[in-house]
Amino acid sequence: MIFIVYSILFIVGNFIGNVQLEDGSLCAGKNVTSQPVIDYCNSQDGYLIFRCCRSYDNESFIAVDLMDSNLTATPDFAHFENFNLSVVDLRSNPQLVPSPDDFLTLKYLDYLILPEQFDCPGGHDIWEVIDKTTDPVGNRCLRQKDFCSNSTDMCDENGSYCSANGPHHFLCLCKHGYHGYKCLRSGKFPTAAFFASTLVATVITSAVLYWTQRRHVK
Ligand SMILES: *[C@@H]1O[C@H](CO)[C@@H](O)[C@H](O)[C@H]1NC(C)=O
Ligand SMILES: *[C@@H]1O[C@H](CO)[C@@H](O)[C@H](O)[C@H]1NC(C)=O
Ligand SMILES: *[C@@H]1O[C@H](CO)[C@@H](O)[C@H](O)[C@H]1NC(C)=O
Ligand SMILES: *[C@@H]1O[C@H](CO)[C@@H](O)[C@H](O)[C@H]1NC(C)=O
Ligand SMILES: *[C@@H]1O[C@H](CO)[C@@H](O)[C@H](O)[C@H]1NC(C)=O
Ligand SMILES: *[C@@H]1O[C@H](CO)[C@@H](O)[C@H](O)[C@H]1NC(C)=O
Repeated sequence: MIFIVYSILFIVGNFIGNVQLEDGSLCAGKNVTSQPVIDYCNSQDGYLIFRCCRSYDNESFIAVDLMDSNLTATPDFAHFENFNLSVVDLRSNPQLVPSPDDFLTLKYLDYLILPEQFDCPGGHDIWEVIDKTTDPVGNRCLRQKDFCSNSTDMCDENGSYCSANGPHHFLCLCKHGYHGYKCLRSGKFPTAAFFASTLVATVITSAVLYWTQRRHVK
């Protein structure tokens, strides 16, 4: 019994260990050299740790310097749980090309610096300030606008509303009291009725099986 408990603890521990390693892997490699990342980290009293800046309360990574990483695609930031990024520097990645799902979930991204071949996603609809940097050269995208505030028709079903989900990304969520496909159903999901009917069905099935199978037991 104790052996089984230890085995489970070992497996769970291993799993958690791996997840943490994976979360941190975006930060692995060189130390931060990006001046915008360093300045932002200092302004937030954060801690520089390899490529990243960790927040003052150590809860999340708030900035990352991904310069000189030979990237061909933007990392999937949604994959890393503890990242709540405000500043991302991707310059000096000459092979990096844009794709539609870039920066998904980065709601609070406010300062994005891209290599020169990579334009600010969404352009002036999304960023208040767009300009160029030198040394290294790149495009600067500053102050993300609230995509939903200017697109009331995005989620036009009555029960749904728009929720920003990173630059040029949004989600249609259901308002309180609505659920289902396109939030078209109103009223509470009938949880109690659902479980009650499942329970009744289970009890009846078990009883039937019990009586039919038991007859053969001598
Ligand atoms: C990175 O920074 C740490 C301390 O913050 C230092 O010990 C280490 O030598 C640095 N590594 C490089 C490659 O500069
Ligand atoms: C965050 O971690 C650093 C060490 O890396 C520590 O000095 C600091 O006290 C921690 N801050 C909090 C709020 O736990
Ligand atoms: C990027 O590629 C160059 C040349 O192919 C190599 O020297 C360098 O170490 C690579 N950098 C990283 C971070 O992988
Ligand atoms: C993420 O960062 C933003 C901006 O600093 C902050 O307002 C927000 O509360 C943070 N969210 C989480 C879940 O830490
Ligand atoms: C809203 O969108 C219109 C047209 O796309 C644009 O001209 C206007 O500046 C936007 N307003 C805000 C606050 O983003
Ligand atoms: C939305 O609600 C209005 C009245 O509140 C109704 O006239 C309209 O038909 C509804 N539209 C949809 C798609 O349910």
